[in-house]
Amino acid sequence: MAVNIETNVLYYGDNLIWLRNHDCFPNESVDLVYLDPPFNSNADYNVIFNEPSGEESQAQIKAFDDTWRWEKTASEEALRDLGRAGGNPQIVEYIQWLAKRGDKQSTSMAAYLSMMAVRLIELNRVLKSSGSLYLHCDPTASHYLKVVLDTIFGAKNFRNELIWHYRKWSTGKLQFQRNHDVILFYSRTQSTERVFNQLYMERAESTKKRFGESKILSGRDENGRRLPSQIEDEDSVGARQDDVWEISRVPPIKQLFPTEKPAALLDRIIAASTGKNSVVLDPFCGCGTTIIAAQKARLKWIGIDVTWLAIDLVEKRLKESYGKKAQSMYLVKGQPVDVSSARALANKSKKEFEIWAISLVGAASREHDGGVDGLLSIAEGKGKSTKVIVQVKGGKSINPGMVRDLMGTIEKEKAAIGLLITLEEPTAGMRELATHTGSYESPIWHRSYPRIQIKTIKDLLEGRGFDLPYGESPLKKASPINEEGINGKLL
Ligand SMILES: C[S@@+](CC[C@H](N)C(=O)[O-])C[C@H]1O[C@@H](n2cnc3c(N)ncnc32)[C@H](O)[C@@H]1O
Repeated sequence: MAVNIETNVLYYGDNLIWLRNHDCFPNESVDLVYLDPPFNSNADYNVIFNEPSGEESQAQIKAFDDTWRWEKTASEEALRDLGRAGGNPQIVEYIQWLAKRGDKQSTSMAAYLSMMAVRLIELNRVLKSSGSLYLHCDPTASHYLKVVLDTIFGAKNFRNELIWHYRKWSTGKLQFQRNHDVILFYSRTQSTERVFNQLYMERAESTKKRFGESKILSGRDENGRRLPSQIEDEDSVGARQDDVWEISRVPPIKQLFPTEKPAALLDRIIAASTGKNSVVLDPFCGCGTTIIAAQKARLKWIGIDVTWLAIDLVEKRLKESYGKKAQSMYLVKGQPVDVSSARALANKSKKEFEIWAISLVGAASREHDGGVDGLLSIAEGKGKSTKVIVQVKGGKSINPGMVRDLMGTIEKEKAAIGLLITLEEPTAGMRELATHTGSYESPIWHRSYPRIQIKTIKDLLEGRGFDLPYGESPLKKASPINEEGINGKLL
C-alpha cells in the first residue's frame, strides 16, 4: 500500500528532529536515501563568496562544523536508541568503550557514530521494503559506519562498498595520495521487488580488441569447466557497472558549497535505485546536488539541512534552473514565518539568523567583515555594477549609532546603498538620521534611491521590501540543468 508523504519539500533544521516527526516522515514512505553527512574530518568548512566584481572575497563564512564532542546526555541517549532498535549490544558497548578510552580521536569517533546511529535508525524506518540507502563517507569513518549500518540494516542487506575515485592535487605526505570516497550501499530488505536497474559501463580495451562490440556468451560445461566464449550476433550493451566509479570532483573553484558532490555521481545512484514516481530523500542535502539530480530525473524529492546557507543555495539553484516555474515546484518548511519565530532563531544562533535575514532580500552572505553581513550587486550599465551592502541587527538594543556605522561602511566599501535589517522596530532617531544620508542616482533607471534604508523583519516578511534598482546576487552561478531527464543506462 502506497504511503502518503509530502514531497518536494526543503526542511530547514536538524534532520533528527524532522525525521522523528512521523507526520512528515511516515514509515516505509521513501524509495531512495542518499546521505552525505559530515565525515568526522575534524574540520570546519567554509564557503567563499564572490565580490560583485567576480573576484573572490577574503571573507569566508563557516558553512558547517565537522568536529565532534562526546555529549553526556545526547550521545548516551543516542546509544540507548541504538540498543533499543535492536543494535548488537557488543557494538553499543564498543562505542561506549571508545567514548571512555580517553584519547580525543576515539571520543570524537564515538560521538560521531552515536550521532549517525540515531539518524540511520530513522532512515531505515522511512525506507520502503523495496528501497535503498547510500551512505557517502570516506575512510576516516567508513569501517566504523559499516558496522553501525550492519547492526541497523542487517549485514545481509549490505549490497556494495562503492569506491568513488577522483584525482586531486597531491598533498605531499609520506603516504599514498588519498583519492577516493566510500559509498556504502544497503537495501532495506532482500525482497526481489527491490528496485535495482542494471547500469552498464564501457568494456575493457582488451575485451574490445578481442570481441569488438559483439555480445559474448560465456558458460560452463556439466563438470563446471569454463567453455570458450561465444560471439553472438547482437551488439553488447557494455560491461555490467562495477563498484569503482571514476568521476571527476567538482573543482574547488566551481564549488557552490564545500564538499559539493558531482552531479554525475548522483545521476548514477538515482538511475540505479529509482523507478517511476520514486521519492528521493537527502537528509544532509548541502547545496542540493541530490535534489537537482532528482528533479532532473522528474522524481519526487525531500531535502533537509541544518544551515540556512544550504537551503538558500538549493532554492537559488532551483530558481536558476527552472525560473518562475520553480516557485510552484517546492515548499520550504522550518524557516521563521513571523517575528516570534525569527526571534527564536536569533536567540538560537546569531549567524544563522543573519544568513536567513539577508536571504530575504536575495543577498549573499559575507562573514561579519568590516560591518558587511551581505552583498547585492546592482547593474550600472554594460558590464558595470556597483555594491549594495546589507547589515543585520538581530539584537534587542538598536540605536542611531548603527546608521552612522553603516554610512562609514558604505564609504569604506565604496558601495552605492546600505540596507539595515532590524529585528526590533528602529528608533525615531534612526529613521530621522537615515533620511539625511543622501541618495544614490541610478544611471540606468535615472532616478534616485535613499542611500540608507531601514526595514524590519516584519516589513520583509509582510512583503514591504527595500527600494532598489534591479539587483543581481553576487553568488557564483549554478550551472543550469537540462530538463530532458537522464538515460537509464549510464556508461
Ligand atoms: C557534506 S555536506 C553535503 C554536501 C552535499 N552532498 C552537496 O553535494 O552539496 C553535509 C551537510 O550536512 C548538513 N548537516 C550537518 N548536520 C546536520 C543535521 N544534524 N541535520 C541536517 N543537516 C545537517 C551541513 O549543514 C551540510 O550542508
